[in-house]
Amino acid sequence: MLSIEDVTVRRGNKEVVRSFSLQVNPGEVTALLGANGAGKSSLVLALAGRLPVSGGAVTLDGAKINGLRPNRVRRAGLAAVPEGHKVLGSMTVHDNILAAILETHRESAIVDEVFEVFPELAGLSEQQAGAISGGQQQMLAIAQALASDPKYLLIDELSLGLAPIIVARLAPVLAEIAKGGVGVLLIEQFATVALAISRRAAVMDRGELAWLGEAVELADNPEVLHGVYLGGSVA
Ligand SMILES: Nc1ncnc2c1ncn2[C@@H]1O[C@H](COP(=O)(O)OP(=O)(O)OP(=O)(O)O)[C@@H](O)[C@H]1O
Ligand SMILES: [Mg+2]
Repeated sequence: MLSIEDVTVRRGNKEVVRSFSLQVNPGEVTALLGANGAGKSSLVLALAGRLPVSGGAVTLDGAKINGLRPNRVRRAGLAAVPEGHKVLGSMTVHDNILAAILETHRESAIVDEVFEVFPELAGLSEQQAGAISGGQQQMLAIAQALASDPKYLLIDELSLGLAPIIVARLAPVLAEIAKGGVGVLLIEQFATVALAISRRAAVMDRGELAWLGEAVELADNPEVLHGVYLGGSVA
Protein backbone atom coordinates (compact mmCIF):
# COMPACT_ATOMS: atom_id res chain seq x y z
CA MET A 1 0.00 0.00 0.00
CA LEU A 2 0.88 3.67 -0.26
CA SER A 3 1.35 4.81 3.29
CA ILE A 4 1.37 8.48 4.26
CA GLU A 5 2.54 8.67 7.85
CA ASP A 6 2.43 11.82 9.91
CA VAL A 7 3.39 13.94 6.90
CA THR A 8 4.01 17.67 7.22
CA VAL A 9 4.54 19.98 4.24
CA ARG A 10 5.59 23.62 4.46
CA ARG A 11 5.08 26.35 1.91
CA GLY A 12 6.85 29.54 2.82
CA ASN A 13 6.73 29.56 6.60
CA LYS A 14 3.29 27.97 6.77
CA GLU A 15 2.56 24.31 7.48
CA VAL A 16 -0.01 23.59 4.78
CA VAL A 17 -0.13 19.86 5.56
CA ARG A 18 0.17 18.91 9.24
CA SER A 19 0.84 15.44 10.65
CA PHE A 20 -1.33 13.94 7.96
CA SER A 21 -1.72 10.15 7.78
CA LEU A 22 -3.59 8.12 5.20
CA GLN A 23 -3.23 4.76 3.49
CA VAL A 24 -4.09 4.21 -0.13
CA ASN A 25 -4.84 0.54 -0.78
CA PRO A 26 -4.17 -1.15 -4.11
CA GLY A 27 -7.22 -2.13 -6.11
CA GLU A 28 -9.55 0.59 -4.90
CA VAL A 29 -10.23 4.32 -5.14
CA THR A 30 -9.71 6.46 -2.05
CA ALA A 31 -11.36 9.90 -2.17
CA LEU A 32 -9.62 12.90 -0.64
CA LEU A 33 -12.02 15.79 -0.07
CA GLY A 34 -11.64 19.17 1.55
CA ALA A 35 -12.45 22.84 1.15
CA ASN A 36 -10.39 25.25 -0.96
CA GLY A 37 -6.96 25.74 0.55
CA ALA A 38 -7.21 22.64 2.77
CA GLY A 39 -3.86 21.39 1.48
CA LYS A 40 -4.92 18.60 -0.91
CA SER A 41 -2.81 19.77 -3.86
CA SER A 42 0.16 20.45 -1.61
CA LEU A 43 -0.06 16.88 -0.34
CA VAL A 44 -0.16 15.53 -3.90
CA LEU A 45 2.86 17.62 -4.91
CA ALA A 46 4.75 16.36 -1.86
CA LEU A 47 3.86 12.72 -2.58
CA ALA A 48 5.04 13.17 -6.17
CA GLY A 49 8.39 14.59 -5.00
CA ARG A 50 7.64 18.11 -6.23
CA LEU A 51 7.49 19.69 -2.78
CA PRO A 52 9.67 18.63 0.14
CA VAL A 53 8.15 16.55 2.93
CA SER A 54 9.35 18.30 6.07
CA GLY A 55 8.13 15.70 8.55
CA GLY A 56 6.87 12.13 8.57
CA ALA A 57 7.33 9.45 5.95
CA VAL A 58 5.83 8.19 2.70
CA THR A 59 6.30 4.53 1.85
CA LEU A 60 5.25 2.66 -1.26
CA ASP A 61 4.82 -1.07 -0.66
CA GLY A 62 7.26 -0.72 2.21
CA ALA A 63 9.93 1.37 0.46
CA LYS A 64 10.48 4.96 1.55
CA ILE A 65 9.84 7.41 -1.29
CA ASN A 66 9.87 10.80 0.41
CA GLY A 67 13.04 12.68 -0.46
CA LEU A 68 13.20 11.11 -3.94
CA ARG A 69 13.12 13.29 -7.05
CA PRO A 70 9.90 13.22 -9.10
CA ASN A 71 11.28 10.87 -11.77
CA ARG A 72 12.48 8.43 -9.09
CA VAL A 73 9.07 8.54 -7.44
CA ARG A 74 7.51 7.65 -10.80
CA ARG A 75 9.96 4.78 -11.22
CA ALA A 76 9.03 3.56 -7.75
CA GLY A 77 5.44 3.23 -8.99
CA LEU A 78 3.63 6.45 -8.15
CA ALA A 79 2.17 8.61 -10.93
CA ALA A 80 0.37 11.89 -10.32
CA VAL A 81 -1.83 14.13 -12.42
CA PRO A 82 -1.31 17.40 -10.53
CA GLU A 83 -4.01 20.08 -10.40
CA GLY A 84 -4.22 21.96 -13.71
CA HIS A 85 -1.69 19.64 -15.36
CA LYS A 86 -1.13 20.58 -18.99
CA VAL A 87 -0.35 18.13 -21.76
CA LEU A 88 2.33 19.07 -24.28
CA GLY A 89 0.13 21.04 -26.65
CA SER A 90 2.43 21.26 -29.64
CA MET A 91 3.12 17.51 -29.65
CA THR A 92 0.78 14.83 -30.96
CA VAL A 93 -1.36 12.72 -28.65
CA HIS A 94 0.83 9.73 -29.49
CA ASP A 95 4.06 11.58 -28.68
CA ASN A 96 2.61 12.81 -25.39
CA ILE A 97 2.08 9.19 -24.39
CA LEU A 98 5.52 8.13 -25.63
CA ALA A 99 7.12 10.92 -23.60
CA ALA A 100 5.61 9.47 -20.42
CA ILE A 101 6.72 5.86 -20.93
CA LEU A 102 9.53 4.67 -18.67
CA GLU A 103 10.04 1.16 -20.03
CA THR A 104 11.10 2.07 -23.56
CA HIS A 105 11.40 -1.56 -24.66
CA ARG A 106 7.64 -1.95 -24.13
CA GLU A 107 6.65 1.24 -25.93
CA SER A 108 4.16 -0.09 -28.46
CA ALA A 109 2.55 -2.50 -25.98
CA ILE A 110 2.05 0.32 -23.48
CA VAL A 111 0.59 2.65 -26.13
CA ASP A 112 -1.86 -0.14 -27.06
CA GLU A 113 -2.81 -0.66 -23.41
CA VAL A 114 -3.41 3.05 -22.89
CA PHE A 115 -5.55 3.27 -26.04
CA GLU A 116 -7.56 0.32 -24.75
CA VAL A 117 -8.36 2.32 -21.63
CA PHE A 118 -9.19 5.43 -23.70
CA PRO A 119 -10.31 4.21 -27.16
CA GLU A 120 -11.28 7.79 -27.96
CA LEU A 121 -7.63 8.85 -27.86
CA ALA A 122 -6.62 6.17 -30.35
CA GLY A 123 -8.55 7.97 -33.07
CA LEU A 124 -6.81 11.23 -32.17
CA SER A 125 -3.33 9.72 -32.09
CA GLU A 126 -1.77 12.03 -34.68
CA GLN A 127 -3.64 15.19 -33.62
CA GLN A 128 -1.81 17.96 -31.81
CA ALA A 129 -2.64 17.61 -28.11
CA GLY A 130 -3.36 21.34 -27.87
CA ALA A 131 -6.11 21.01 -30.47
CA ILE A 132 -8.22 18.29 -28.79
CA SER A 133 -11.02 19.11 -26.32
CA GLY A 134 -10.50 19.79 -22.62
CA GLY A 135 -12.04 16.45 -21.71
CA GLN A 136 -9.79 14.65 -24.18
CA GLN A 137 -6.78 16.51 -22.77
CA GLN A 138 -7.72 15.31 -19.28
CA MET A 139 -7.94 11.75 -20.67
CA LEU A 140 -4.50 12.26 -22.17
CA ALA A 141 -3.12 13.52 -18.85
CA ILE A 142 -4.43 10.35 -17.16
CA ALA A 143 -3.12 8.29 -20.10
CA GLN A 144 0.34 9.80 -19.56
CA ALA A 145 0.20 8.83 -15.89
CA LEU A 146 -0.85 5.29 -16.86
CA ALA A 147 1.96 5.07 -19.40
CA SER A 148 4.46 4.76 -16.54
CA ASP A 149 2.58 1.62 -15.44
CA PRO A 150 1.98 2.90 -11.90
CA LYS A 151 1.01 0.94 -8.83
CA TYR A 152 -0.54 4.10 -7.39
CA LEU A 153 -2.24 6.91 -9.28
CA LEU A 154 -3.02 10.33 -7.81
CA ILE A 155 -5.55 12.52 -9.60
CA ASP A 156 -5.93 16.12 -8.42
CA GLU A 157 -9.25 17.64 -9.55
CA LEU A 158 -10.58 15.25 -12.14
CA SER A 159 -13.40 17.59 -13.17
CA LEU A 160 -11.48 20.88 -13.23
CA GLY A 161 -12.90 22.96 -16.06
CA LEU A 162 -14.80 20.03 -17.54
CA ALA A 163 -18.49 19.56 -18.32
CA PRO A 164 -20.36 17.12 -16.03
CA ILE A 165 -20.89 14.72 -18.94
CA ILE A 166 -17.12 14.39 -19.39
CA VAL A 167 -16.64 13.72 -15.69
CA ALA A 168 -19.37 11.08 -15.86
CA ARG A 169 -17.34 9.43 -18.62
CA LEU A 170 -13.99 9.64 -16.77
CA ALA A 171 -15.09 8.42 -13.34
CA PRO A 172 -15.92 4.83 -14.42
CA VAL A 173 -12.54 4.63 -16.16
CA LEU A 174 -10.83 5.38 -12.84
CA ALA A 175 -12.95 2.68 -11.21
CA GLU A 176 -11.78 0.23 -13.90
CA ILE A 177 -8.14 1.23 -13.43
CA ALA A 178 -8.50 0.51 -9.71
CA LYS A 179 -10.16 -2.83 -10.46
CA GLY A 180 -7.04 -3.71 -12.41
CA GLY A 181 -5.05 -3.46 -9.16
CA VAL A 182 -3.92 0.18 -9.10
CA GLY A 183 -4.43 2.18 -5.90
CA VAL A 184 -6.10 5.45 -6.88
CA LEU A 185 -6.21 8.59 -4.74
CA LEU A 186 -8.87 10.90 -6.15
CA ILE A 187 -9.28 14.56 -5.30
CA GLU A 188 -12.51 15.89 -6.71
CA GLN A 189 -14.59 18.96 -5.92
CA PHE A 190 -17.84 17.14 -6.72
CA ALA A 191 -17.97 14.89 -3.69
CA THR A 192 -20.77 12.72 -5.04
CA VAL A 193 -18.75 11.85 -8.16
CA ALA A 194 -15.74 10.88 -6.08
CA LEU A 195 -17.67 8.98 -3.41
CA ALA A 196 -19.63 6.98 -5.98
CA ILE A 197 -16.46 5.22 -7.15
CA SER A 198 -14.51 5.21 -3.87
CA ARG A 199 -14.26 2.53 -1.24
CA ARG A 200 -12.76 4.79 1.43
CA ALA A 201 -12.76 8.54 1.90
CA ALA A 202 -10.73 11.09 3.81
CA VAL A 203 -11.53 14.72 4.55
CA MET A 204 -8.76 17.26 4.99
CA ASP A 205 -9.30 20.46 6.92
CA ARG A 206 -6.61 23.15 7.22
CA GLY A 207 -3.85 20.67 6.56
CA GLU A 208 -5.10 17.99 8.93
CA LEU A 209 -7.06 14.78 8.60
CA ALA A 210 -10.57 15.64 9.80
CA TRP A 211 -12.50 12.52 8.88
CA LEU A 212 -11.68 9.03 7.61
CA GLY A 213 -14.01 6.18 6.83
CA GLU A 214 -16.02 4.31 4.22
CA ALA A 215 -17.14 6.37 1.22
CA VAL A 216 -20.76 5.23 1.62
CA GLU A 217 -20.69 6.44 5.19
CA LEU A 218 -19.48 9.89 4.14
CA ALA A 219 -22.04 10.08 1.32
CA ASP A 220 -24.67 9.65 4.07
CA ASN A 221 -23.19 12.27 6.36
CA PRO A 222 -24.47 15.72 5.36
CA GLU A 223 -22.76 17.45 8.28
CA VAL A 224 -19.28 16.36 7.31
CA LEU A 225 -19.96 16.90 3.60
CA HIS A 226 -21.18 20.41 4.36
CA GLY A 227 -17.84 21.11 6.04
CA VAL A 228 -16.04 19.89 2.91
CA TYR A 229 -17.57 22.69 0.90
CA LEU A 230 -17.52 25.44 3.49
CA GLY A 231 -14.21 24.76 5.19
CA GLY A 232 -14.00 25.07 8.93
CA SER A 233 -13.97 22.12 11.23
CA VAL A 234 -16.02 19.07 10.44
CA ALA A 235 -17.66 16.57 12.77
N1 LIG B 1 2.70 28.27 -4.49
C1 LIG B 1 2.35 28.46 -3.21
N2 LIG B 1 3.16 29.09 -2.35
C2 LIG B 1 2.82 29.28 -1.06
N3 LIG B 1 1.67 28.86 -0.53
C3 LIG B 1 0.83 28.22 -1.34
C4 LIG B 1 1.11 27.98 -2.72
N4 LIG B 1 0.07 27.31 -3.26
C5 LIG B 1 -0.81 27.14 -2.28
N5 LIG B 1 -0.38 27.68 -1.13
C6 LIG B 1 -1.08 27.66 0.18
O1 LIG B 1 -1.08 26.33 0.66
C7 LIG B 1 -2.31 26.08 1.33
C8 LIG B 1 -2.92 24.81 0.76
O2 LIG B 1 -3.24 25.02 -0.61
P1 LIG B 1 -3.56 23.83 -1.59
O3 LIG B 1 -3.55 24.38 -2.96
O4 LIG B 1 -2.69 22.69 -1.27
O5 LIG B 1 -5.06 23.48 -1.15
P2 LIG B 1 -6.18 22.63 -1.90
O6 LIG B 1 -6.82 21.81 -0.85
O7 LIG B 1 -5.58 21.92 -3.05
O8 LIG B 1 -7.19 23.75 -2.40
P3 LIG B 1 -8.14 23.78 -3.71
O9 LIG B 1 -9.37 22.98 -3.35
O10 LIG B 1 -8.46 25.23 -3.87
O11 LIG B 1 -7.39 23.21 -4.86
C9 LIG B 1 -3.18 27.31 1.16
O12 LIG B 1 -3.08 28.06 2.35
C10 LIG B 1 -2.54 28.05 0.03
O13 LIG B 1 -2.70 29.43 0.17
MG1 LIG C 1 -5.99 21.95 -5.03
